[in-house]
Amino acid sequence: MIVEEFITKSYPKTIEEGKVAWESPSNIALVKYWGKKEHQIPANPSISFTLSKCKTITVLEFSEKENKTDFSFDVFLNNEKKDDFKPKIETFFKRVEAYLPFLKNYHFVIKTENTFPHSSGIASSASGMSALALCLTSVDRMLSKNHEHLNKSFFNKKASFLARLGSGSACRSIEGSLVTWGTHQAFAESSDLYGVKYPFEVHENFKNYHDTILLVDKGEKQVSSTVGHGLMHNHPFAEERFKQAHKNLNDLIAVFKSGDLDAFIKIVESEALTLHAMMMTSMPYFILMKPNTLQVINKIWAYREKTDSKVCFTLDAGANVHMLYPENEAKNINQFINNELVEHCQNGQYINDKIGLGAKLL
Ligand code: PMV
Repeated sequence: MIVEEFITKSYPKTIEEGKVAWESPSNIALVKYWGKKEHQIPANPSISFTLSKCKTITVLEFSEKENKTDFSFDVFLNNEKKDDFKPKIETFFKRVEAYLPFLKNYHFVIKTENTFPHSSGIASSASGMSALALCLTSVDRMLSKNHEHLNKSFFNKKASFLARLGSGSACRSIEGSLVTWGTHQAFAESSDLYGVKYPFEVHENFKNYHDTILLVDKGEKQVSSTVGHGLMHNHPFAEERFKQAHKNLNDLIAVFKSGDLDAFIKIVESEALTLHAMMMTSMPYFILMKPNTLQVINKIWAYREKTDSKVCFTLDAGANVHMLYPENEAKNINQFINNELVEHCQNGQYINDKIGLGAKLL
């Protein structure tokens, strides 16, 4: 599948060498993307909060090379050469080559760092792939200078489109603070090809929303994303699940407008548990929650029961728990975490993050 709109036909400029750097955040889905078709097309629409502190910083250096028949690049994580990252990036380059025809003309040095520990169990693919896609879109723009088609909104669209080809959820990390991805009847601009900023009214209650990530289990992922999405093929509940995602996204529109946090909690927690229910009922099946995940969930429910707190949880495809809560509860929730939840975190570790505004050129 080739999408004409994103193909750069020719470059009027030549640049021998250069450097560009972006920082790009992670995001946390409220309505989950789980299941995809060919070419990284999502089986259902999703929506996420863009985060602010959990991010990847990528510096891309490029220099023109003689041999223009192959890709050539080196990758460094925290200044250490990482040859085991190369196959993933090679696959990404192959997927995006049609849209970035300069890729074989240069040797690239990709230097990347995450603000969160690499082995924390927090997926770095969303922030990492979006940061790399943004760097490459910047090079595309440098070579196309003065080209009208690379205005800011098209730039973001193209970066999101390319990021999606690296890792689906990465397409929701370019902008903030709420991003939808996947065609949905309520969003005229929505697309399966890239993320779009949430276009409707958002109530004050969601301003500066917090996400504290409790690092319950920092182990390597038990199920890769590719395998995980694949489990939705021929899944007995797939069609109902995809319908439910459409409905939940639709219902969130009214919730964001009214600021109804009780309704928000119901949708977000149900989405998290549905994601895990899909994994538990696929073939093969997986349980990615750990005993401490359940301890934390039960304590969050008990805390809500005895206070008038609006804290809720969501999960990714792993054991860590994201606690979402409004700004005015930050102090109390921090106390709650320190008193009751740190004991369920590996080495007592958690990350205080918040809703953010998207990626930044450095
Ligand atoms: O972007 P991927 O292919 O790693 O998939 C991510 C899927 C979830 O994190 C589980 C949900 C989501 O929408 O982010």
